[in-house]
Amino acid sequence: MCGIVGYTGTRQAYPIVIDGLKKLEYRGYDSAGVALQTGEAVMVYKKAGKVAALEEFIGDQSTAGTTGIGHTRWATHGEPSDRNAHPHVSKSGKLAMIHNGIIENYAQLKNELLKDGYEFHSDTDSEVLLNFIEDIQYNNDCSLEEAIRIALKRVTGAYVILLVHADQPDMIIAARKGSPLVIGIGNNEHFLGSDASPMLAYTKEVVYINDYELAIVTPDQLILKNLGNEQLTPFVQKLDLELAAIEKGGYDHFMLKEIFEQPITIADSLRGRLMANEAQIILSGIDDIKDKLMAARRVIIVACGTSWHAGLVAEYVIEELCRINVEVEYASEFRYRNPIIDSDDVIFAISQSGETADTLVALERAKEQGATIFGIVNVVGSSIARISHAGCYTHAGPEIGVASTKAYTAQLAVLMMIALKVAKDKGTISEERFGNLCHELNQIPEKVQWVLDNEVDNIKAIAYKYKDAHDMLFLGRGYNFPTALEGALKLKEISYIHAEGYPAAEMKHGPIALVDDQLPVVFIASKDAYHEKIVSNIQEIKARKGMVISVVSEGDEITPNISNDVMRVPNVDEVIAPLLTVVPLQLLSYYIGVYRGLDVDKPRNLAKSVTVE
Ligand code: F6R
Repeated sequence: MCGIVGYTGTRQAYPIVIDGLKKLEYRGYDSAGVALQTGEAVMVYKKAGKVAALEEFIGDQSTAGTTGIGHTRWATHGEPSDRNAHPHVSKSGKLAMIHNGIIENYAQLKNELLKDGYEFHSDTDSEVLLNFIEDIQYNNDCSLEEAIRIALKRVTGAYVILLVHADQPDMIIAARKGSPLVIGIGNNEHFLGSDASPMLAYTKEVVYINDYELAIVTPDQLILKNLGNEQLTPFVQKLDLELAAIEKGGYDHFMLKEIFEQPITIADSLRGRLMANEAQIILSGIDDIKDKLMAARRVIIVACGTSWHAGLVAEYVIEELCRINVEVEYASEFRYRNPIIDSDDVIFAISQSGETADTLVALERAKEQGATIFGIVNVVGSSIARISHAGCYTHAGPEIGVASTKAYTAQLAVLMMIALKVAKDKGTISEERFGNLCHELNQIPEKVQWVLDNEVDNIKAIAYKYKDAHDMLFLGRGYNFPTALEGALKLKEISYIHAEGYPAAEMKHGPIALVDDQLPVVFIASKDAYHEKIVSNIQEIKARKGMVISVVSEGDEITPNISNDVMRVPNVDEVIAPLLTVVPLQLLSYYIGVYRGLDVDKPRNLAKSVTVE
């Protein structure tokens, strides 16, 4: 949520900062800005809209300077506008700051500053923090670094801040709490970013900054301190990431690229862990908490959005295979609900970014109460990965499209392996069923490939036919119910069509009132134990003239006859099916969004990584 970039070195900062902002634009894109340290002053340019609008606005104005910071915004306080865009400039005109996060006690700080005669030129909490810092510096006659330290001790909320000062050439001061910050180490240069993508073309050596740390960055030095002014040793890590992984690679959109990558990303998530031929699953993360899991009375899954849907699938699978009670919680509710947690509980945290604020804080609370935290996270080194006691990375690679696709199927692949392994260790699954499910899971990459090879033209035609719908219902039962929720979420995000996911049988208890000849209803109707039941549900919709689009298993001859349109998937065991049945729904949303002329990689109001609550 908000992308931040910084550079200090021997090259011109502006092209590096702008290029970095484009790479981070998935984090927020309602306005953008840069501040450049010219050696004696700070030049600030900012504009509402995407980074391209900022570039156009800057045009051929001077962009000289070898130190600079940049910001792409997802609005929290104040509408997207030129004045609310970052960087903000302090009262003296000398200090510029960008901020990712929320300052919760900003109103109180603002009142103090207003009494001291400060005027504000934006509606943001960020401008308040900036002037609060400057006020402290003047009142205490201290260094900027010291003023930041004092200010941050008074601040509640989340932040990454980057500051440049007119009188301090070649220096960026950065601090973090609750929002991500990576610093890349080059040759006489340093790069700063919300993630590593802005620096990938220049260096693979990075330092992940921790909460309550302050970095004083010059071209040749990275000084890391805590808020108590003690110097810390930066822990330098090598990035295992190639530039190609964060580029579109010939696809029109990241979302399409990421949907098409799924045969590879699922295989990557299974590789070295699932040995189908030997009927064996090796997950060292699970071994780390094996005793806890074997004794667990309960697994609580905590996540948000699409990751929460992965958790719902896991609930069905773990309860069925492992006979462990599973509860799936929205992190945002869980953190405020005073939940009953004890040391026998194991918490599974599911997160693509590993930075989602609600999930992170929910885990911190649960950890304080003695629960064991197991992270299922995509971004290596992210905050959730770091606070977990143990975990499994999902290996989906960088997901840039705002709507989650490949991260979801990678989460499902990992969760299926976990369920299978625990079931085997607990003895709640027969050898034969275990072997069969391992085999089925192993075949998923090629089955997803089958959908991509054979169904895309058909799905495009269906998308075109229904692109002007005002509402859509997504219905499924059992293992296919979470897929209905995920299908509806994808459609909402990408096409702005109102969509609801429901358990198919629950439809009769209310939503059926919506059905008329204008309402497309998507059924996830792959072959499973409830297939006859879902066929009856389809008939109920048909009887009310609803338009039925069904996801069906190959060879199903009944469902296509009662559906207006069908999207086919290969046959697969119902436990594994969610990995497959979601793929046509991802494609359907994508093409409907494209046919409606929308920016599917940057849907309105959304941002990829929700680091504010
Ligand atoms: C939907 C989507 C969001 C995320 C949610 C959690 O397509 O991307 O709903 O799933 O914000 O994000 P992570 O998984 O990063 O914690």
